[in-house]
Amino acid sequence: MRFFHFIIGFLALCILVFLVLGKQGDISRKPPIEIFPDMDRQLKLRPQTDANLSPMGLSSRLPVEGTVARGAHYQDNTMNTGKIVGTTNFVEISPVPVSATLLARGQERFQISCSPCHGMQGDGKGITTKYGMGAVANFHDIRIIKMPDGEIFNTITYGKGLMGAYGPNVVTEDRWAIIAYLRALQRSRLALPEEVPANIRASLKK
Ligand code: HEC
Repeated sequence: MRFFHFIIGFLALCILVFLVLGKQGDISRKPPIEIFPDMDRQLKLRPQTDANLSPMGLSSRLPVEGTVARGAHYQDNTMNTGKIVGTTNFVEISPVPVSATLLARGQERFQISCSPCHGMQGDGKGITTKYGMGAVANFHDIRIIKMPDGEIFNTITYGKGLMGAYGPNVVTEDRWAIIAYLRALQRSRLALPEEVPANIRASLKK
């Protein structure tokens, strides 16, 4: 009996759905029912059409002389994409020569933009992990040590998985500076005892 009721109910539902869908595309003189109109229709002026709003009688003013369109000077080069030009392959080594100034800038930018999650040492133990930010990448993992510089650039620009995009916050030059500093952090844990300056080697903990 129960099954029979179910079949009846199911058929009724099917018919209802077909009736409603069948109405789609019908021509009607009445305006369609809009559940969320989303500001589809509004009072507005199209840019630079006739209107008595500006001295020239246009709805908006003409761009100031010398205005540069956003993205007009963007170049599809390694510096901007982290990729080898004309391919989708990431560059292995950063196009920016490493200097003490670059590293200092990278350290500062890293500590501002990355350390809250990745930690001051890049080990993925930043302050946000105490407040629920889970599974933050550890830069001392062999996978990230081996990762091409260009791929890290891409991750900063667009984000990855749970990590948001930092492209809008960190300008191109600073992204490469951060990468140089990130490599220095990695190197610091890969150094051999012989590489430590002789005068402080004795103070190293065994
Ligand atoms: C709000 C927290 C947060 C900030 C800030 C942040 N990250 Fe991340 N990052 C993450 C998380 C979480 C992951 C792991 C993403 C995943 O695998 O889902 C990650 C992953 C990564 C990875 C590894 C990507 C991969 O392919 O596995 C790199 C490299 C990285 N971040 C670099 C950076 C750099 C450089 C900065 C600073 C510009 C930065 N992150 C800032 C949270 C953050």
